[in-house]
This record gives sequence, structure tokens and C-alpha cells, in this order.
Amino acid sequence: MVYVAPGNAGTALDIRLKNVPITDPGWLAQFAQNEHINLTVVGPETPLAAGIVNIFREQGLKIFGPTREAAQLESSKEFAKSFMQRHRIPTARYQSFSNAAAAHKYIDERGAPIVIKADGLAAGKGVVVATTLQQAHAAVDMMLSDNRLGDAGARVVIEEFLEGEEASFIVMVDGKNVLPLATSQDHKRLLDHDEGPNTGGMGAYSPAPIITPSLHARVMREIINPTVLGMAKDGMPFTGFLYAGLMIDARGNPRTLEFNCRMGDPETQPIMARLKTDLVSVMEHAVNGTLDTVELEWDRRTALGVVMAAAGYPDDPQKGAHITGIPEASADCVTFHAGTALENGKLEVSGGRVLCVVGMGDSVRMAQKQAYTAVEQIHFDGAQFRRDIGWRALKRPG
Ligand code: AMP
Ligand code: GLY
Repeated sequence: MVYVAPGNAGTALDIRLKNVPITDPGWLAQFAQNEHINLTVVGPETPLAAGIVNIFREQGLKIFGPTREAAQLESSKEFAKSFMQRHRIPTARYQSFSNAAAAHKYIDERGAPIVIKADGLAAGKGVVVATTLQQAHAAVDMMLSDNRLGDAGARVVIEEFLEGEEASFIVMVDGKNVLPLATSQDHKRLLDHDEGPNTGGMGAYSPAPIITPSLHARVMREIINPTVLGMAKDGMPFTGFLYAGLMIDARGNPRTLEFNCRMGDPETQPIMARLKTDLVSVMEHAVNGTLDTVELEWDRRTALGVVMAAAGYPDDPQKGAHITGIPEASADCVTFHAGTALENGKLEVSGGRVLCVVGMGDSVRMAQKQAYTAVEQIHFDGAQFRRDIGWRALKRPG
């Protein structure tokens, strides 16, 4: 039996799964003891930053994810930046501040565009890419003077604006060995043509054609391997999924925008749709430190996922709309649930990003067609989705 905590309507409807309404790390460890759970895998960053892996390990429970200390790669931007600088991992130049006057002065010296990031976890609201000085100063006021992000924004990282194309590079790490997953690319803006506000991600596809085999080797050599070695050297070996958000410049040089210590959403959905190897066996190798013996098998097709979000997302998602029309999963299309709940047997919207509809095809165009054919059948009031997921991959020559 597989338990999902807390789960959603998608996991509630799957007869192989059982939802458990617990989110507190200590209570989850108690649950794992009581139910003799063999292996736990952590999805989101909040329990990781709270030390769920430390708690489970102290009790002798098997768990895949980074410790509280290693999770600082995601939970503190200042930690991640100083780590990268110390280990010579390519990233944007930066300075960090807790004093607003000093931050304003630095912004005036550097000029715009410039990027302001809250140090702590801010659920996607902590990064301001300022195109004008005015926006940059306002971001500093919002975080440092008005404390609008609380403790997460009590310190900020101010960094150089990087131009280029983004890609997501996700690997599994067992403390020593690294197993790369398939590459992917997501779409952060709410609206078509990459307009509108930043979101957690409105769609993604795998593979990402921008990651050529030689760039892949470079990312492993210059970013991933030094990160894994550096964390071990610094006394906090990384175990878990490691996600490097990359910016690739016009000359093909990769730099690290951020680390996440989990899989990405929505990158995970197309990646998992392509994975043919049994995930549980891979996880077992990961907790046993034998990832070097694993070879992953991937569906050669492209998987492309379109996110359907609630009305009002990202600022003020409206809950409660009734969802209809999700097609049965097939070899060419599968719909993943995110913010959904079952209320009196009815499928309802319960969060910002509601569904991710993944189509598979021999080309990006065909995968896109599969996904949008399903999206057209699904209905809930106020549904928002982009109609151009995959445009960068379609634009590429060849
Ligand atoms: P992060 O959470 O650090 O990845 O930032 C969220 C998004 O902001 C990224 O996916 C980029 O689109 C953008 N971003 C972050 N840092 C930079 C940077 N230094 N230059 C340009 N864009 C950035
Ligand atoms: N899609 C980016 C993330 O999960 O942070």
C-alpha cells in the first residue's frame, strides 16, 4: 500500500493509494512507525526545511530527501549563493543585505535590470526581476522595510540580471552518486507569449532540446558534480532530488539561477510520464547509496504538460469550482491532479494549480496536440491555461 500525505482528489480516486490527513513531520514519523512504512519520499520543500529527514533518520526510518542542513540549498538563497561562490559554481554575481539603506545604495550603484530575492522560502513570491530602478527599490522596501514576506524577507540577495533561456536540470543524489533524470523546461509566466505575472509554472515538457549532449556534460561537470562534492566536503552530504534552475546564455554557457531540493512542479509530470523504470526500485537504490548501479529507461517520445489553474491564480486562487470532463488516462495522455479535492463525492478546485494535462507524441507538436485535445474536454469555472506551451521547443531549428 502507498500512503499519500495529505494527498488530493487524484490520489483519493486511485485504488492503489490512500490519503492520510497529516502534514506535521513528527506525526508523520509516528505514522510511519505505526504502519511499518518501508520507505518515505518527500515531495515539497516545507517539511524538508523543517527537518523531516533528520526526524525520520533519528528513528531509523528510511526516507529519501535532504536533511534540514542540506535543504538550505533551497531554503536560504544566501546559503546557496555563498556555497556556489565558495565552490566556484557558475551563477550570477550578488551581494546580500539585511539593511535597507545599504541595499538601496547597492541598487543605485549597479543599475537596472537587477534581481531582488528574499533569502527564505516565500512560495514563489520571493523573487522580483526589476527592469527599472524604481521596481528594485520598491522590492527592497517591500521585503526589508515593510516586512511583507516576514522572516523569509528579512534578508535579501541582490543579483545580476542574467539573459538567456531557462532549463530545469533535475538529478537524484544518494550522498555520493548522481543519477540525472530527463531534462525539461517550464513556462513561468501566467499568459501566452510569456506575459503576465510569474507563477510556479504553467506548463512544461521533456526533453528540453536546448540541453544538447555536450551542454548536458558541461552542466554535470561545472554545476551538479561540484555541488554534490561541495556539500559532502562541507559536512552536509546531499541526498534527495536536486533541481538546478539554469540560465543558458546566447553562447551556450550555463549558470545556476537557483537550487530546489525536490522535483519541480510542473516539470515532474512530463518527466514521470516518460519514466519506464520502476520508480520504487530507483528510490530503494537511492536510500541504500547504490544509485551508481541504476540505469534509467525513458520513453523516447516528448511529454508536454499543460497546467490548468484556478480563477484568480496566482494572487488569489478561487476554490470550490466543480471539475468535469477529465478523460481516462491512455498511452498518449495522462492528467495529474494538484489542487483538487473530493467534496461529497464531487471533484472540486482546492488550490492555485489544479491539473496538469500531459500529452505524449513523437514530436513536440504531436505531444502538444494530445495535451490540448484533453484540455478542451475538461471544464471548471474560471479555468486559466496557456495555449502556447512548448513554443520555445517548436521554434528551434531541426
Ligand atoms: P528563482 O526562484 O531564483 O529561480 O527565480 C524565479 C525566476 O526568476 C527564475 O525562474 C527566472 O525566471 C527569474 N530569475 C531569477 N534570477 C534571475 C537572474 N539572476 N536573472 C534573470 N532572471 C532571474
Ligand atoms: N517549476 C519550478 C519549481 O518547481 O520550482
